[in-house]
Amino acid sequence: MWNVPAGHPQGAGDVRSWRALTHEIERCELCPLHRTRTHAVVYRGGLAPRVVFVGEAPGDVEDRTGLPFQGRSGRRLDTAIGRLGLGSEEFGVLNLIKCRPPENRYDPRAARACRPYLDRQLAWLRPRVRVTLGAHALRALDPEAPPVLQAAGSPRGTRDGPLFPMIHPAAALRSRRLADRWERDVDALGAWLRAGAGQSV
Ligand code: URA
Repeated sequence: MWNVPAGHPQGAGDVRSWRALTHEIERCELCPLHRTRTHAVVYRGGLAPRVVFVGEAPGDVEDRTGLPFQGRSGRRLDTAIGRLGLGSEEFGVLNLIKCRPPENRYDPRAARACRPYLDRQLAWLRPRVRVTLGAHALRALDPEAPPVLQAAGSPRGTRDGPLFPMIHPAAALRSRRLADRWERDVDALGAWLRAGAGQSV
């Protein structure tokens, strides 16, 4: 199911620990959202990704499929990933919150309960770059950052490594102005990745 490229720091043998973490999240009952979920939504992508995109929480399509970013905002994200030229093993996608919140409202209690899962996933994957999608992901991974519309489109250095904030792709569906902003920030991310992302922040 998962390919770990030769030479990956985790080593193919340790894929077992990734699977164990995945199963732990799938069975999680730490907050009330487990009662209303169809699936916990854990991860999609390669196991040695250069770039991991961090979203907020699954919506309806993600709850049904068990995969992050499958709906309209997922299509926008995938188009951007295609433009960045990232191969299927070179990126990963996950969320702060693993189960769908009712009415897709951000649930800080669920975010707190899920936080150790996010940290363990990122520690295992060790991406070179984390790209936050939207205000909540940015606040979670870089509490010092300015508001998302100010921060988006420019790389930031954090204690845990380089981070590139973006607006949420769902926001880009809401207005022409935000769609243009999304496109500009995708181009800025592409330029930064091509320039060797992370060496300059
Ligand atoms: N929005 C998110 O933040 N995550 C998803 O998986 C889908 C929509």
